[in-house]
Amino acid sequence: MKKGIFITFEGIEGSGKTTQAKLLAERLKEQGLDVIKTFEPGDTQAGKKIREILLSPSINMNPLTELLLYFSDRVQHVEEKIKPAINQGIIVICDRFTDSTIAYQGYGRGLSVELIEEFNNILLGNFKPDLTILLDLPAEIGLSRNQRINKRDRFEMEDIDFHNKVRDGYLQIAKSDPERFFIVDATEDASEISQKIFDIVQTKINTK
Ligand code: TMP
Repeated sequence: MKKGIFITFEGIEGSGKTTQAKLLAERLKEQGLDVIKTFEPGDTQAGKKIREILLSPSINMNPLTELLLYFSDRVQHVEEKIKPAINQGIIVICDRFTDSTIAYQGYGRGLSVELIEEFNNILLGNFKPDLTILLDLPAEIGLSRNQRINKRDRFEMEDIDFHNKVRDGYLQIAKSDPERFFIVDATEDASEISQKIFDIVQTKINTK
């Protein structure tokens, strides 16, 4: 059986990933394709509990503890949901994946990017998305969008410097892997963005 495709959405807070992932899944389903939409952290039974710990504003956490929890969630997610779906020929659309860990725990918190890549190798056998959509926008705009809807988890409470580092981190990761990344200007109109993403995904599907 033909393998499915693994597509991830990445970006800082308020970049519109969740909306765009949903729109893409809907459009692909309209075409009769088999699609599942998933997210990190927290889209398994174990992951839900891990997410609660990770995002609780009242829990004090060492950056390495945080890193290990994101990988715990990811190992469970990949083994329980993502790989089985891909092996059945399904298109998997995931809201955040390892690039989030490199951007937030690596560039944001200052942990070694090499260490994170090494963990990825050891724990996931260097399992990577086929295509990653990076929704890029200035941190000020993203954060102000989220404040309007009153979203305040442990990361949203970080200062603007942290979010600027995460944004720059994402741009560097994308630069180092241009074959996999598609960068979209997330300040554009949502329907224009959705069309651009749909076009690039169709090309990916047709060339796979
Ligand atoms: P969400 O708001 O997209 O649901 O993601 C929850 C938060 O977790 C978000 O602020 C980014 C953060 N995060 C990391 O710091 N590292 C990771 O590996 C992932 C997947 C998310």
